[in-house]
Amino acid sequence: MVPGAWPLLGHLHLFDTVNPTHVTFGAMADVYGPVFMAKLGSIKVMIINSKEVAKEIYTVHDKLLERPELTASKLLGYNDSFLTFSPYGLYWREIRKIAVSELFSTSGVDMHMVSRAREADLAFRALYVTWEKRGKPKEGVLVDMKQEFIDLTANISLMMVAGKRYFGENPNCEVKEARRCGKLIREFLDYFALFLLSDVAPVLGFLDWKTKRGMKRTAKGLDKVAEGWIEEHKNKRSDHGRSENDYLDILIKILGQDKIPGLSDTHTKIKALCLNLVLAGSETAIVVLVWAVSLLLNNPHVLRKAQEELDSKIGKERVVEELDIKDLVYLQAIVKETFRLYPPVPLVAYRAVVEDFDIAFCKCHVPAGTQLMVSAWKIHRDPNVWSNPEQFEPERFLTSNRELDVGGQSYKFLPFGLGRRSCPAIPLGMRMVHYLLARFLHSFDLARPSSQDVDMTESNGLVNHKATPLEVNIIPRLHKSLYEVDHIGTDN
Ligand code: HEM
Repeated sequence: MVPGAWPLLGHLHLFDTVNPTHVTFGAMADVYGPVFMAKLGSIKVMIINSKEVAKEIYTVHDKLLERPELTASKLLGYNDSFLTFSPYGLYWREIRKIAVSELFSTSGVDMHMVSRAREADLAFRALYVTWEKRGKPKEGVLVDMKQEFIDLTANISLMMVAGKRYFGENPNCEVKEARRCGKLIREFLDYFALFLLSDVAPVLGFLDWKTKRGMKRTAKGLDKVAEGWIEEHKNKRSDHGRSENDYLDILIKILGQDKIPGLSDTHTKIKALCLNLVLAGSETAIVVLVWAVSLLLNNPHVLRKAQEELDSKIGKERVVEELDIKDLVYLQAIVKETFRLYPPVPLVAYRAVVEDFDIAFCKCHVPAGTQLMVSAWKIHRDPNVWSNPEQFEPERFLTSNRELDVGGQSYKFLPFGLGRRSCPAIPLGMRMVHYLLARFLHSFDLARPSSQDVDMTESNGLVNHKATPLEVNIIPRLHKSLYEVDHIGTDN
């Protein structure tokens, strides 16, 4: 246990609103070593900052670890019914199986290729129109790309889950409904980004009363939205000839008939899973896109190489398609390097220890009741493992670390986590971030609004958002006709 714990608060006094939790833990690792135990309120937390210990945790002790209880998961996740937060057991196993085989398989990912393309068309056309309306300035037009990516990824996730788009121009429902639902979805995403005292120091949980009240209100509103989606889908199912292909259709088909033995209240579970997938699908992709563009703006030589690759592989006569990703080797290295420096979930393997165990590598005892976190953020910046760990060098993934893959069994690179609770949606996540980044860089030249570097301050929360907006001057770099929305049919 690191020294300096206060009564009641433990080491909470070391945390502030300026430095995110993973950064504070990182600084503590520099003092107390790669594995240390701290106390947050009444809870003992073990932080793992070493790839060797991470390996042991994932390969030997994974079975003794559970998801910890989180207030947001209780209040907004139908009492831990999200796949992401549900405890091990029949429900988690069955749903994970469905997710891997039906939703995130190659054919599941391909199924929504057209709707992702259409969302990108709409978003980038809107940016083009903004530039045009401001008189096509040579120096570009200033936009907040963080907000643009938030709207774009939320629309893509909503389309895949429920066939809805609420953000930006042309929502596919009444404008009033789009505003109401969009506001609820935004609140929902924001609440999940918060670190609550109730989760780390239950004794101080009463201080969260206002947030908890807000969460309950949002949960109630979202429940109505999800009910509406289900109703709409059930009615449409009887429409002759409608292709059933969004996640909600698939979940209604598989779960709606109560065919899975032992699974109860499937109606609620379907609502929970839909909201879970909207959350998981948009939050992570936003983070990767925002950090990747920020890093590129601060490293213009890398940005130039990425655009040269796009021009040589795609040309300027058409837009990028998802099928092009395999040829964009340098872009793939940029994405990996972004994952390394800014892993979307900086503290992966957030777990509660259910039974005592010993970690052989560091000869330490871990008592039941401890919470455990593996710091992907710190391992990804370990100077014993990575050369120039603080530098943005995509080339490392084309040379010394060429073989390193996100889904592989490398304990030094774990942006999607590892073990049985690792991300089941790697194929979808990878497809989305590569495609959207490639489309954006191919469609626009980018410049910082001033000579200052982009602010790289990180924020607190389960997901590692950039704390400030991402202001960029964008200038279209393709012919006007390539910003038209091509009505290329529907997904099938
Ligand atoms: C770049 C994108 C993504 C990254 C970096 C990412 C990363 C992660 C990480 C680190 C975990 C937790 C692993 C752990 O606890 O050890 C996770 C879990 C999960 N992710 Fe992702 N994710 C991404 C995209 C997605 C998408 C697009 C979806 C679905 C639409 C998704 C759905 C899930 C689910 C359902 C879980 C929980 C799995 C379980 O508990 O069994 N993720 N993800």
